[in-house]
Amino acid sequence: MEALDFLEKEQTFTLPERYSILSEEEMRARIIEIKEAFGDRLFMPGHHYQKDEVIDFADARGDSLKLARICTAMDEAEFIVFCGVHFMAETADMLTSDHQKVILPDMRAGCSMADMADIDQTEQGWQTMQDTFGDTILPLTYVNSTAAIKSFVGKNGGATVTSSNAKKMLEWAFTQKERILFLPDQHLGRNTAFDLGLSLDEMAVWDPIGHRFEFEGEDLQDVKVILWKGHCSVHEKFNIKHIENLKKKDPEITVLVHPECTYDVVQASDMDGSTSFIIDTIENAPAGSKWAIGTEMNLVNRLIKENPDKEIVSLNPFLCPCLTMNRIDLPHLLWSLEMLEKGEVVNQIKVPEEIREHAVLALNRMLERS
Ligand code: 13P
Ligand code: SF4
Repeated sequence: MEALDFLEKEQTFTLPERYSILSEEEMRARIIEIKEAFGDRLFMPGHHYQKDEVIDFADARGDSLKLARICTAMDEAEFIVFCGVHFMAETADMLTSDHQKVILPDMRAGCSMADMADIDQTEQGWQTMQDTFGDTILPLTYVNSTAAIKSFVGKNGGATVTSSNAKKMLEWAFTQKERILFLPDQHLGRNTAFDLGLSLDEMAVWDPIGHRFEFEGEDLQDVKVILWKGHCSVHEKFNIKHIENLKKKDPEITVLVHPECTYDVVQASDMDGSTSFIIDTIENAPAGSKWAIGTEMNLVNRLIKENPDKEIVSLNPFLCPCLTMNRIDLPHLLWSLEMLEKGEVVNQIKVPEEIREHAVLALNRMLERS
């Protein structure tokens, strides 16, 4: 089920008033108290894009790959309160055992990119792709996708990828089939395929709304990668003008961007890489070095704070927050924990078994290879 469908069907709830009255200190104190009382029965993973007020309480901080891995090893945790977005909580649910319950403190914490690939559109598009290219296509999906899409991919022999293993997974995929369908982020797909040496003429975009290929080359049969027409609304906000302006002001500055940025931005930047690559690069950079970073705002602000010996700015002067990641805040976190304390599990993320079965195949094909 898509995150927004779920919301409409299941969540008529508004946060009780008490949570708008409590001070930050009171909320923090209660969270500490509840976490201590639960001990190892409660585990709270936090994605790097989460707000400071939330990430302060995370038992593990990571990118989506690291958090997926950690959750598989958290057998003793009865409750996993996931500080991230819906698709990450679904992944955690699929990689943990039946006795473990995954909770998302605010169900509105979705991902606009994941919502751009709907399972019905995918199945219809796949049929047209099979009619056009025959049985020559392997589907890969960025983990930023619904469990239903992961299941479709798993059923068709494909795998999930994250930004930190996309290149390796695309290389593997080409050992399996002649062509790849890459869902749902056209930019990560295009940037990764280009990195592997494919030309833009060997890539077509699949428009799921118009139900047609977008292709400017000569022969569609030359296409090796079909890019689903999805994008991240946060990373699309960086543009070439931002790079030119910064470089004009300071030619010494190094521009480092996430591969969810457009192809033009990635080509014009000095370096690009996944969330963990960005963090490692900044942490290992020499004191005094200057950086402009093109990724989510909470992470950029945290890098600025944690690396005072370096000069770091956001590539977009207006910064780019992920609004859905920001849905997780102290009031929602405390509410979900206080409900747990009362013995009530709220906002549980449970992937139906018939979807989980094949989605796990896609996830495991990735985990085995990265
Ligand atoms: P990572 O896979 O790098 O954690 O990224 C997740 C994400 O949502 C990026 O926009
Ligand atoms: Fe989705 Fe983009 Fe937010 Fe990542 S930053 S969770 S891809 S909307």
